[in-house]
Amino acid sequence: MTNQTQKYPLRVEAQHVGFFETPVAYCRMKEGDQLLIDLEKSIRQNRALTSGLQRSNIGSWHSDSDMLKWGGSAAAKLAETAINIAKCMGHFQEASPDSYEWHLRMWANVTPASGLNHMHAHPGNLWAAVLYLDMGDEKDSSEDVGGAFYMEDPRFPMSAMHNTALRMIGVDSEPQQYEVELKLERGNILVFPAWLRHGVRPYSGKRERISIAMNIDARRKA
Ligand SMILES: [Fe+2]
Repeated sequence: MTNQTQKYPLRVEAQHVGFFETPVAYCRMKEGDQLLIDLEKSIRQNRALTSGLQRSNIGSWHSDSDMLKWGGSAAAKLAETAINIAKCMGHFQEASPDSYEWHLRMWANVTPASGLNHMHAHPGNLWAAVLYLDMGDEKDSSEDVGGAFYMEDPRFPMSAMHNTALRMIGVDSEPQQYEVELKLERGNILVFPAWLRHGVRPYSGKRERISIAMNIDARRKA
């Protein structure tokens, strides 16, 4: 091969560019202590009154998705914050985000040991969001208590190619994995496209974990 090819004095300048990014807002609250306390209080009150729903959650309590009705001004503030983040992360052709009516549904999850959320997406929405109020045992425990929040690479056909060992190098020079686990703490908010599949690994800590999930959509104002 060398003898055949060395007659060409070829050099190539390659520019590594990445297309089709998946935006995820990975946010940390500042001065949010009172908000978190009030949200948790509302969740505990509502949990005492209702049996909850069954969705992607296994083993956990999932409130009805009307938390904006029973979560008071703290829930309203969280909704406003999540919508503002979503507005910053998207662009509408021929219109500004403020020419849309923004809608948000919100619900709470309380997860005991062995709880998890199967991989799922939030169809019928533009954005999904989650806020963690209490990570349970994770912070103080020396053992791995699981419960990681993970996201799946939305380019699904790639992971079904004949050689599944291949990882393409990203523009950050790192191999791109098929799933990403996020280290989350109390007060972290994630906002991500509603089509991005995600889930929560089984949690084995003793203390309950508490989180709030949201569906965000926007419809053009009349
Ligand atoms: Fe979800």
